[in-house]
Amino acid sequence: MRTIRQLEPRGQRVLVRVDYNVPMTPQGTVADTLRIEESLPTLRWLKERGARLVLMSHLGRPKGASPGLSLRPIAESLSNLIGTPVHFANSCVGADAQELSRTLKDGEVLLLENLRFDAREEANDASFARDLARLGDCFVEDAFGTVHRAHASTVGVPEILPAYAGFLVEREVEELSKLTRDPKKPYTAVIGGAKIQDKLPLLKNLLDKIDHLLLGGALGASVITDSHRPESPLHGPILDLLESARRASVQLLLPEDFILQDGPRGAIHVSADEKVPAGSSAMDIGPRTRANFRKVISSSKTVFVNGPLGKAEEEPFSHGTREVLGGLPIEGCTRILAGGDTAGIIRTMGLGGSFSYISTGGGAALEFIEGRELPGLRVLPDR
Ligand code: 3PG
Repeated sequence: MRTIRQLEPRGQRVLVRVDYNVPMTPQGTVADTLRIEESLPTLRWLKERGARLVLMSHLGRPKGASPGLSLRPIAESLSNLIGTPVHFANSCVGADAQELSRTLKDGEVLLLENLRFDAREEANDASFARDLARLGDCFVEDAFGTVHRAHASTVGVPEILPAYAGFLVEREVEELSKLTRDPKKPYTAVIGGAKIQDKLPLLKNLLDKIDHLLLGGALGASVITDSHRPESPLHGPILDLLESARRASVQLLLPEDFILQDGPRGAIHVSADEKVPAGSSAMDIGPRTRANFRKVISSSKTVFVNGPLGKAEEEPFSHGTREVLGGLPIEGCTRILAGGDTAGIIRTMGLGGSFSYISTGGGAALEFIEGRELPGLRVLPDR
C-alpha cells in the first residue's frame, strides 16, 4: 500500500477518513478514546509537516440527522488529546464545510459532522463523494474499523483524489496478518457481543482457519434460543454454522449455562436446557461455560477475541468476560482483541494487558482475518 510516507503534505488540504465511531456515555461524552488515540500518530505526522487536516467519520447508525450522534463532543475529546483547537463543521458537505476547509492554515485541524447524517454516504453516492472530495487535495485512509464498508468516504473519495494509507491502517494490516499467515495452532476464536446478524455469516468463513470456536454472551443466548425458533432470522444461519463447524472438524462450544436478568429476582443462574422465564434475558455466560472456555483457551497458541462474553459493563454480568479473558495464556500465545466497543469495555475492566494486540476494527478485523479483500483497502494504490 502507498502510505503517507510518500506524501509531501505541506500546504495541502489532507482529507483523512478516521473511525471515531467510539462508545459514548449516556451523558454524551466519549466513553473510550482508543480509536481517537490510535489516529494520533497519523494526524501528528501530517500536522508537523504543515498539512491542513480535514477529518471525516461516522458515529453509530443514524437514519438521517440525529443530534445524539453528533461528532461535536468528539472534536472536544480530540482537541484535548492532540493539544490543539479543532474546528468543527456542522455539516459534512456544503458551503460551510467548503469555506472552513478553504480557510484552514497549515497545521490546523477541522472535523466534519457525522457522515451518516446524509444517506448518500452509505449508498456510496457519486455526487456525495464528489462533494466530499472538494474538501481536500488528497485523501488518507486511517479508519481501519470501516475499511470493510464500500461507502462514499471509504471508496468513492479515494477513487477521485490521490489516496494514501495512514499509519493505523498500515499497523493493523501488519498485526492482523499474523492471524492470516500461518497462525500458531491450536487457534481459538472467541466471539461474543453485539451485531450478531453481521457476525454469523462471517464466522462460517473462519472455520477453515481455526480449531475451536467459542460463542458467548448475549450472542450465545441468541444462538441457543434462536436455534429452536424457526421464525427467527437467525435460525437458518445458526443451524448452518453448526453443520459447517461439524464438517470442518472445528470444536464449536455454545454456552451450557447462563446468568439471566430476571426482573425483581435480579441475576439468576440457569442451564441452557431450562426454560428461560418470560421477560428475562441472558446477560452472561454461567460458571460451567466459563470453565469449559478456559480449558480450551489454556492450551491455545493463538486466540482471537471479538466481543465481550456478557453485558460486561454491568458488574453482575462481568464475570464471564473477566474470568475467561483475564486468564489467557501469556507465554507463546498470540492474543488479539478486536472491536471498538469491546476494546473500551476490556480496557475499562483493566484487562487490556491480557492481549498482545488490540485492534480498532470489529467487523473489519473479522473480515480481514477471514482473508477477504476489503473495499477500503483494495481502492488504495500500491505505489
Ligand atoms: C465499527 O464500529 O465496527 C465500525 O465503525 C463500522 O461501523 P458499522 O458496523 O456501523 O458500519
